[in-house]
Amino acid sequence: MRTNNHNIILGIETSCDETALALYGQDGLIADVLYSQIDSHQVYGGVVPELAAREHLSKINPLLDTLLAQAGISIHDITHIAYTRGPGLIGALLVGANYASALALGLGRPLIGVNHLEAHIVSPFINKQLPEQPFLTLLVSGGHTQIILTHGLGRHEIIGESLDDAVGEAFDKTAKIMGLGYPGGPIIEQTAKHATKTIDLPRPMTRKADAMMSFSGLKTATRLAYQKNKDEDNIRANIAHSLQEAICDTVIQKVKYAIKKTQVEHLVVSGGVSANQYLRQALKQLPLQVDFPPLEYCTDNAAMVAFLGYLRSGDPAPKTLAQARWRVDDI
Ligand code: KG4
Ligand code: ZN
Repeated sequence: MRTNNHNIILGIETSCDETALALYGQDGLIADVLYSQIDSHQVYGGVVPELAAREHLSKINPLLDTLLAQAGISIHDITHIAYTRGPGLIGALLVGANYASALALGLGRPLIGVNHLEAHIVSPFINKQLPEQPFLTLLVSGGHTQIILTHGLGRHEIIGESLDDAVGEAFDKTAKIMGLGYPGGPIIEQTAKHATKTIDLPRPMTRKADAMMSFSGLKTATRLAYQKNKDEDNIRANIAHSLQEAICDTVIQKVKYAIKKTQVEHLVVSGGVSANQYLRQALKQLPLQVDFPPLEYCTDNAAMVAFLGYLRSGDPAPKTLAQARWRVDDI
């Protein structure tokens, strides 16, 4: 039996619209490759699940060849196969799950099914050590907006979450309404830089002393403000800036509540929206340690999956291969 020191973990990510593979070993990340399907989905203004699954299917095998060539290792050097087991689009997840499962069986290696949200939580610590627990995580992505208290791997408590839309979704839908393209988050961030005024938008649920959130009403208020002032000069930039500011204000108030409630002094911020510089600057003002992933590991990637697989290399094989809904407090 090989010791942990010689483990080389293959990580596979196919939960949404990125097909990604990575290798992680004792000295950290060995190699990682990613194929973004954005160009295929862009024409539809959002991710088309069936198309995502088909793209994963055609890209995953050639990507493994590229990954192994990049790392300069043989497929037989891989000691563990980790993959995103959920949550995500079921058709997309199943491509990665079946591919991982076949590899594990063929190579005679253990199979590790990881939770995509837990992978986002550990993403700032790729090539590092996990920090002391407990720590708080603000997870902001296209599918999730949650404030999580982490006591250890598989020991997460949700302190607050959005009751409806995720913040990434609010950015994506607003960008779509203004005809700015997909994915909306990065476009909103760039467009907001040209703003000349702030339009008044609500800060939903901030009067409540809890960490619960809701962004569906803000999204509607933003759409109405845009439609009402459509012909104004610079309206897109002003809306983009005002939405970004409203979302950041709201999220930060909820994070402040979570800090007060838990008395925890370490905050991790992860998920696609953690790439947003406006949000980063605002969070850095908080009087506690704040860790972000490197920009390339904010959005979906396999480095975080391989890293979590490395941390979980003793896990038993998953009972079911994939799970579309899988809460982080139920791992
Ligand atoms: O983590 P992720 O890649 O996928 C999910 O697990 O959902 O997050 C994707 C989301 C999209 O909604 C995208 O618009 C948003 O992250 N996003 C951003 C930025 N980059 C990506 N939102 C705001 N500012 C950004 N720079
Ligand atoms: Zn994600």
